[in-house]
Amino acid sequence: MNGKSWVERPIEPFGMEIEARLEWPLAEDVQQRMIALFDEHKLLVFRNQKLNEADQVRVLENFGSVLSSHGEYREISSDGALGAGPLTWHSDLAFTEEPYKIISLHAVEVNDGQSWTQFANGAIAARDLPGELIERLEGLQAVTSIASIQSHRVVGYDTPSDIPHQVRPILMPHPRTGEPILYISWMQTCRIEGMGREESDAPLQQLFDELYRQDRIYRHEWNNGDFVIWDNIALQHSRCDLEGMLPRRLQRIVIADKSFFDLLPQFKVGDEKISAWGSGAKELTLN
Ligand SMILES: [Fe+2]
Repeated sequence: MNGKSWVERPIEPFGMEIEARLEWPLAEDVQQRMIALFDEHKLLVFRNQKLNEADQVRVLENFGSVLSSHGEYREISSDGALGAGPLTWHSDLAFTEEPYKIISLHAVEVNDGQSWTQFANGAIAARDLPGELIERLEGLQAVTSIASIQSHRVVGYDTPSDIPHQVRPILMPHPRTGEPILYISWMQTCRIEGMGREESDAPLQQLFDELYRQDRIYRHEWNNGDFVIWDNIALQHSRCDLEGMLPRRLQRIVIADKSFFDLLPQFKVGDEKISAWGSGAKELTLN
Protein backbone atom coordinates (compact mmCIF):
# COMPACT_ATOMS: atom_id res chain seq x y z
CA MET A 1 0.00 0.00 0.00
CA ASN A 2 1.51 3.27 -1.11
CA GLY A 3 4.97 1.74 -1.18
CA LYS A 4 4.78 0.41 2.41
CA SER A 5 4.73 -3.23 3.39
CA TRP A 6 1.15 -4.52 3.63
CA VAL A 7 0.44 -8.25 3.56
CA GLU A 8 -3.05 -9.76 4.04
CA ARG A 9 -3.55 -13.27 5.38
CA PRO A 10 -7.09 -14.65 5.79
CA ILE A 11 -7.75 -16.20 9.20
CA GLU A 12 -9.72 -19.43 9.53
CA PRO A 13 -12.66 -19.61 9.98
CA PHE A 14 -13.03 -15.81 9.59
CA GLY A 15 -11.12 -12.56 9.98
CA MET A 16 -8.07 -11.04 8.30
CA GLU A 17 -4.55 -10.75 9.63
CA ILE A 18 -2.63 -7.80 8.23
CA GLU A 19 1.13 -7.61 8.38
CA ALA A 20 1.93 -3.90 8.43
CA ARG A 21 3.35 -1.26 10.68
CA LEU A 22 0.65 1.20 11.71
CA GLU A 23 2.23 4.65 11.55
CA TRP A 24 0.88 8.18 11.20
CA PRO A 25 -0.54 9.62 9.19
CA LEU A 26 -2.26 6.54 7.77
CA ALA A 27 -2.30 6.84 3.99
CA GLU A 28 -5.71 7.30 2.39
CA ASP A 29 -5.53 3.96 0.59
CA VAL A 30 -4.63 2.21 3.85
CA GLN A 31 -7.64 3.70 5.61
CA GLN A 32 -9.99 2.67 2.82
CA ARG A 33 -8.55 -0.83 2.63
CA MET A 34 -8.94 -1.32 6.39
CA ILE A 35 -12.62 -0.34 6.24
CA ALA A 36 -13.30 -2.60 3.25
CA LEU A 37 -11.58 -5.56 4.93
CA PHE A 38 -13.37 -4.89 8.20
CA ASP A 39 -16.83 -4.79 6.62
CA GLU A 40 -16.15 -8.05 4.82
CA HIS A 41 -14.28 -10.00 7.51
CA LYS A 42 -15.56 -8.39 10.78
CA LEU A 43 -12.24 -8.93 12.56
CA LEU A 44 -8.77 -7.56 11.84
CA VAL A 45 -5.58 -8.71 13.54
CA PHE A 46 -2.32 -6.76 13.50
CA ARG A 47 0.74 -8.08 15.33
CA ASN A 48 3.89 -6.46 16.71
CA GLN A 49 2.36 -3.02 17.10
CA LYS A 50 3.31 -0.41 19.66
CA LEU A 51 0.34 1.91 20.03
CA ASN A 52 -0.16 4.35 22.86
CA GLU A 53 -3.73 5.28 23.72
CA ALA A 54 -3.77 8.26 21.33
CA ASP A 55 -2.43 6.08 18.50
CA GLN A 56 -5.14 3.50 19.05
CA VAL A 57 -7.78 6.24 19.09
CA ARG A 58 -6.44 7.49 15.74
CA VAL A 59 -6.78 4.05 14.16
CA LEU A 60 -10.30 3.59 15.49
CA GLU A 61 -11.39 7.04 14.33
CA ASN A 62 -10.99 5.60 10.88
CA PHE A 63 -14.10 3.48 11.56
CA GLY A 64 -16.39 5.91 13.36
CA SER A 65 -16.94 7.97 16.46
CA VAL A 66 -14.67 6.90 19.32
CA LEU A 67 -16.26 6.70 22.75
CA SER A 68 -14.67 9.23 25.08
CA SER A 69 -12.65 8.09 28.05
CA HIS A 70 -15.15 9.72 30.42
CA GLY A 71 -16.70 7.01 32.52
CA GLU A 72 -15.22 4.29 30.36
CA TYR A 73 -12.45 1.80 30.96
CA ARG A 74 -9.61 2.12 28.50
CA GLU A 75 -7.54 -0.64 30.02
CA ILE A 76 -8.54 -4.17 30.87
CA SER A 77 -6.22 -5.65 33.48
CA SER A 78 -6.58 -8.92 35.34
CA ASP A 79 -5.56 -7.19 38.60
CA GLY A 80 -7.77 -4.14 38.07
CA ALA A 81 -11.25 -3.23 39.26
CA LEU A 82 -12.84 -5.24 36.48
CA GLY A 83 -11.78 -8.63 37.75
CA ALA A 84 -10.21 -11.72 36.23
CA GLY A 85 -13.10 -14.13 35.86
CA PRO A 86 -13.98 -15.92 32.63
CA LEU A 87 -16.64 -14.34 30.43
CA THR A 88 -19.01 -16.46 28.39
CA TRP A 89 -20.35 -15.50 24.94
CA HIS A 90 -21.78 -12.00 24.62
CA SER A 91 -21.96 -8.78 22.66
CA ASP A 92 -21.06 -5.72 24.75
CA LEU A 93 -24.16 -3.79 25.81
CA ALA A 94 -26.55 -5.96 23.77
CA PHE A 95 -29.15 -5.34 26.49
CA THR A 96 -29.16 -1.57 25.75
CA GLU A 97 -30.54 0.47 22.87
CA GLU A 98 -27.04 1.01 21.56
CA PRO A 99 -24.60 -1.88 21.82
CA TYR A 100 -21.00 -0.91 21.14
CA LYS A 101 -20.35 -0.91 17.40
CA ILE A 102 -16.67 -1.81 17.28
CA ILE A 103 -14.21 -2.90 19.98
CA SER A 104 -10.43 -2.90 19.80
CA LEU A 105 -7.91 -4.40 22.20
CA HIS A 106 -4.14 -3.95 22.11
CA ALA A 107 -1.92 -6.17 24.23
CA VAL A 108 0.44 -3.76 25.98
CA GLU A 109 1.69 -6.14 28.69
CA VAL A 110 0.87 -9.84 28.68
CA ASN A 111 2.60 -13.17 29.01
CA ASP A 112 2.82 -14.28 25.41
CA GLY A 113 0.29 -16.98 24.53
CA GLN A 114 -1.12 -17.25 28.05
CA SER A 115 -4.65 -15.86 27.64
CA TRP A 116 -7.23 -15.83 24.88
CA THR A 117 -10.36 -14.14 23.63
CA GLN A 118 -12.49 -16.09 21.20
CA PHE A 119 -15.00 -14.96 18.62
CA ALA A 120 -18.19 -16.34 17.04
CA ASN A 121 -19.65 -14.90 13.85
CA GLY A 122 -23.37 -14.12 13.76
CA ALA A 123 -23.20 -13.09 10.10
CA ILE A 124 -21.84 -16.46 8.98
CA ALA A 125 -24.24 -18.29 11.31
CA ALA A 126 -27.22 -16.39 9.84
CA ARG A 127 -26.05 -17.06 6.29
CA ASP A 128 -25.61 -20.78 6.87
CA LEU A 129 -28.68 -21.57 8.98
CA PRO A 130 -30.82 -24.43 7.65
CA GLY A 131 -33.61 -23.10 5.44
CA GLU A 132 -36.38 -24.58 7.57
CA LEU A 133 -34.97 -22.80 10.64
CA ILE A 134 -34.85 -19.47 8.82
CA GLU A 135 -38.51 -19.93 7.87
CA ARG A 136 -39.43 -20.65 11.49
CA LEU A 137 -37.58 -17.53 12.66
CA GLU A 138 -39.37 -15.22 10.25
CA GLY A 139 -40.70 -12.28 12.24
CA LEU A 140 -39.64 -13.68 15.63
CA GLN A 141 -37.94 -11.56 18.27
CA ALA A 142 -35.75 -12.47 21.24
CA VAL A 143 -35.44 -10.92 24.69
CA THR A 144 -31.86 -10.05 25.61
CA SER A 145 -31.11 -8.97 29.19
CA ILE A 146 -28.27 -7.81 31.36
CA ALA A 147 -26.71 -10.79 33.16
CA SER A 148 -25.84 -10.54 36.85
CA ILE A 149 -23.22 -13.27 36.42
CA GLN A 150 -21.09 -13.30 33.31
CA SER A 151 -18.94 -16.40 33.62
CA HIS A 152 -21.73 -18.71 32.50
CA ARG A 153 -25.37 -18.64 31.42
CA VAL A 154 -27.70 -17.60 34.23
CA VAL A 155 -30.41 -15.86 32.21
CA GLY A 156 -33.28 -18.04 31.05
CA TYR A 157 -36.94 -18.20 30.26
CA ASP A 158 -37.94 -16.85 33.69
CA THR A 159 -35.56 -13.89 33.75
CA PRO A 160 -37.74 -10.94 34.79
CA SER A 161 -38.29 -8.08 32.37
CA ASP A 162 -37.85 -5.31 34.94
CA ILE A 163 -34.08 -5.36 34.45
CA PRO A 164 -32.37 -3.70 31.45
CA HIS A 165 -33.29 -5.63 28.32
CA GLN A 166 -34.04 -5.28 24.62
CA VAL A 167 -36.41 -7.09 22.29
CA ARG A 168 -34.93 -7.48 18.81
CA PRO A 169 -35.43 -9.60 15.71
CA ILE A 170 -33.50 -12.85 16.05
CA LEU A 171 -32.14 -12.21 12.58
CA MET A 172 -31.29 -8.52 12.78
CA PRO A 173 -30.07 -6.41 9.84
CA HIS A 174 -26.55 -5.18 10.52
CA PRO A 175 -26.77 -1.42 11.10
CA ARG A 176 -23.75 -0.76 8.88
CA THR A 177 -23.88 -3.36 6.13
CA GLY A 178 -27.53 -4.45 6.20
CA GLU A 179 -26.71 -8.17 6.16
CA PRO A 180 -28.70 -10.42 8.53
CA ILE A 181 -27.00 -11.15 11.86
CA LEU A 182 -27.98 -13.92 14.25
CA TYR A 183 -28.02 -11.58 17.24
CA ILE A 184 -28.63 -13.74 20.29
CA SER A 185 -26.04 -14.68 22.90
CA TRP A 186 -25.47 -17.40 25.46
CA MET A 187 -24.82 -14.90 28.26
CA GLN A 188 -27.63 -12.48 27.52
CA THR A 189 -30.56 -13.93 25.53
CA CYS A 190 -33.42 -15.23 27.69
CA ARG A 191 -36.22 -16.35 25.45
CA ILE A 192 -38.13 -15.91 22.23
CA GLU A 193 -40.79 -13.26 22.67
CA GLY A 194 -44.36 -14.52 22.91
CA MET A 195 -43.53 -18.24 23.19
CA GLY A 196 -44.01 -20.75 25.99
CA ARG A 197 -40.95 -22.15 27.73
CA GLU A 198 -40.52 -25.34 25.72
CA GLU A 199 -41.54 -23.68 22.50
CA SER A 200 -38.83 -21.05 23.10
CA ASP A 201 -36.00 -23.10 24.64
CA ALA A 202 -35.71 -25.73 21.90
CA PRO A 203 -35.14 -23.40 18.91
CA LEU A 204 -32.92 -21.11 20.99
CA GLN A 205 -30.68 -24.05 21.81
CA GLN A 206 -30.64 -25.04 18.15
CA LEU A 207 -29.53 -21.51 17.27
CA PHE A 208 -26.83 -21.48 19.95
CA ASP A 209 -25.54 -24.80 18.61
CA GLU A 210 -25.21 -23.27 15.15
CA LEU A 211 -23.64 -20.05 16.41
CA TYR A 212 -21.01 -21.66 18.62
CA ARG A 213 -20.09 -24.61 16.46
CA GLN A 214 -16.45 -25.33 17.20
CA ASP A 215 -15.42 -25.10 13.57
CA ARG A 216 -16.86 -21.60 13.39
CA ILE A 217 -14.88 -20.16 16.32
CA TYR A 218 -11.71 -18.10 16.07
CA ARG A 219 -9.63 -18.12 19.24
CA HIS A 220 -7.06 -15.35 19.54
CA GLU A 221 -4.17 -16.10 21.90
CA TRP A 222 -2.70 -12.83 23.09
CA ASN A 223 0.93 -11.92 22.50
CA ASN A 224 2.53 -8.59 23.31
CA GLY A 225 1.88 -6.10 20.53
CA ASP A 226 -1.27 -7.79 19.21
CA PHE A 227 -3.97 -5.37 18.09
CA VAL A 228 -7.42 -6.80 17.33
CA ILE A 229 -10.41 -4.85 16.02
CA TRP A 230 -13.82 -6.51 15.82
CA ASP A 231 -17.43 -5.81 14.95
CA ASN A 232 -19.40 -6.09 18.21
CA ILE A 233 -22.71 -6.60 16.39
CA ALA A 234 -21.70 -9.24 13.87
CA LEU A 235 -19.34 -11.01 16.27
CA GLN A 236 -19.61 -12.16 19.85
CA HIS A 237 -16.70 -12.77 22.18
CA SER A 238 -15.80 -14.75 25.27
CA ARG A 239 -12.59 -15.04 27.25
CA CYS A 240 -10.72 -17.51 29.41
CA ASP A 241 -10.37 -17.37 33.18
CA LEU A 242 -7.53 -14.90 33.89
CA GLU A 243 -7.05 -15.87 37.52
CA GLY A 244 -3.34 -15.81 38.32
CA MET A 245 -2.42 -14.45 34.89
CA LEU A 246 -0.26 -11.41 35.61
CA PRO A 247 0.51 -9.18 33.94
CA ARG A 248 -2.42 -9.07 31.51
CA ARG A 249 -3.05 -5.51 30.35
CA LEU A 250 -5.07 -4.82 27.21
CA GLN A 251 -5.64 -1.26 26.02
CA ARG A 252 -9.23 -0.87 24.87
CA ILE A 253 -10.78 1.70 22.54
CA VAL A 254 -14.35 1.33 21.28
CA ILE A 255 -16.61 2.88 18.68
CA ALA A 256 -19.89 3.92 20.28
CA ASP A 257 -21.93 7.04 20.82
CA LYS A 258 -22.86 6.27 24.42
CA SER A 259 -21.17 4.55 27.35
CA PHE A 260 -22.71 1.95 29.64
CA PHE A 261 -23.38 4.66 32.23
CA ASP A 262 -24.85 7.04 29.63
CA LEU A 263 -27.31 4.32 28.66
CA LEU A 264 -27.95 3.02 32.17
CA PRO A 265 -27.38 5.90 34.59
CA GLN A 266 -29.09 3.94 37.36
CA PHE A 267 -25.90 1.87 37.64
CA LYS A 268 -23.69 4.83 38.49
CA VAL A 269 -21.76 4.47 41.71
CA GLY A 270 -23.71 6.07 44.50
CA ASP A 271 -27.07 4.91 43.24
CA GLU A 272 -28.64 2.44 45.63
CA LYS A 273 -29.41 0.04 42.77
CA ILE A 274 -25.75 -0.78 42.44
CA SER A 275 -25.98 -2.81 45.64
CA ALA A 276 -28.57 -5.06 44.04
CA TRP A 277 -25.96 -6.14 41.51
CA GLY A 278 -23.07 -6.21 43.95
CA SER A 279 -19.65 -6.28 42.40
CA GLY A 280 -21.22 -7.30 39.11
CA ALA A 281 -22.10 -3.70 38.33
CA LYS A 282 -18.54 -2.80 37.40
CA GLU A 283 -18.07 -5.96 35.44
CA LEU A 284 -20.90 -5.37 33.06
CA THR A 285 -18.81 -3.40 30.60
CA LEU A 286 -16.03 -5.91 30.27
CA ASN A 287 -14.31 -7.75 27.51
FE1 LIG B 1 -17.15 -7.96 26.34
